[in-house]
Amino acid sequence: MTALLEMRAITKEFPGVKALDRVTLEVKAGEIHAVCGENGAGKSTLMKVLSGVYPAGSYDGEIYYEGKLAEFRNIRDSEDRGIIIIHQELALVPQLSIAENIFLGNEAAKGGVIDWHETSHRTEALLRKVGLRESPATLVDNIGVGKQQLVEIAKALSKNVKLLILDEPTAALQENDSRKLLDLMLELKAQGVTCIIITHKLSEVRYVADTVTVIRDGMSVSTKDAKAGLSENDIVRDMVGRDMSDRYPPRARATRERC
Ligand SMILES: Nc1ncnc2c1ncn2[C@@H]1O[C@H](COP(=O)(O)OP(=O)(O)OP(=O)(O)O)[C@@H](O)[C@H]1O
Ligand SMILES: [Mg+2]
Repeated sequence: MTALLEMRAITKEFPGVKALDRVTLEVKAGEIHAVCGENGAGKSTLMKVLSGVYPAGSYDGEIYYEGKLAEFRNIRDSEDRGIIIIHQELALVPQLSIAENIFLGNEAAKGGVIDWHETSHRTEALLRKVGLRESPATLVDNIGVGKQQLVEIAKALSKNVKLLILDEPTAALQENDSRKLLDLMLELKAQGVTCIIITHKLSEVRYVADTVTVIRDGMSVSTKDAKAGLSENDIVRDMVGRDMSDRYPPRARATRERC
């Protein structure tokens, strides 16, 4: 498989914090690529660099997408190329309907007037694709977080997504909603959508991921084939930088030595 995306030596600093230090990420076309790392490792920052939330010029390094240097100035630029990010903090407007949320900023208009019939019709088709039976007119506030995630994905599908980025999509979900979301990812993969998922849940990595990249303290640690007998312990070792059996060093002995 060829690389759809190559992020090379990405460095991103905030005042007083180097969030990313020469991070590399290579994602193959058509795969599900998991990005793992402990809290604060730099996962969300890396995805914000990729999607233009942090524009070209605000970070060092290069992004190659579909074989070309990409210098996104904003989210719109990356969306135009089919890169859609669903943030850790969901971005839906609770007081608006599902249809309004999906087409917000992207309304089907006829002569400057929003065509609600068309919008509703298209929303129904998108909701079917993500397995939701809600009416397009239902307020987002009246559906649970699991369904809200699916609405976010329906919104991504409305934009002709090629590379879908999900930042901790299951963090607030119950087990069966998580499973539905992961199964939908597998379905989208079968349709040719490439996906990056950030998750702390290693069972999910094993369930959906083809490849897993671990970042630690803003640095790339490893990229491994997730289907080649990779254990959860292997991933955790990369995430924390030592073997789990060393997680609690023999403090008692150290104390004795000091005495
Ligand atoms: N806008 C910002 N301003 C200043 N520092 C930031 C900003 N965003 C992130 N950071 C810092 O950069 C580092 C990486 O943060 P980031 O949110 O990318 O981590 P993460 O791996 O997504 O963590 P989590 O698992 O908690 O979501 C952290 O030290 C964080 O405090
Ligand atoms: Mg994060």
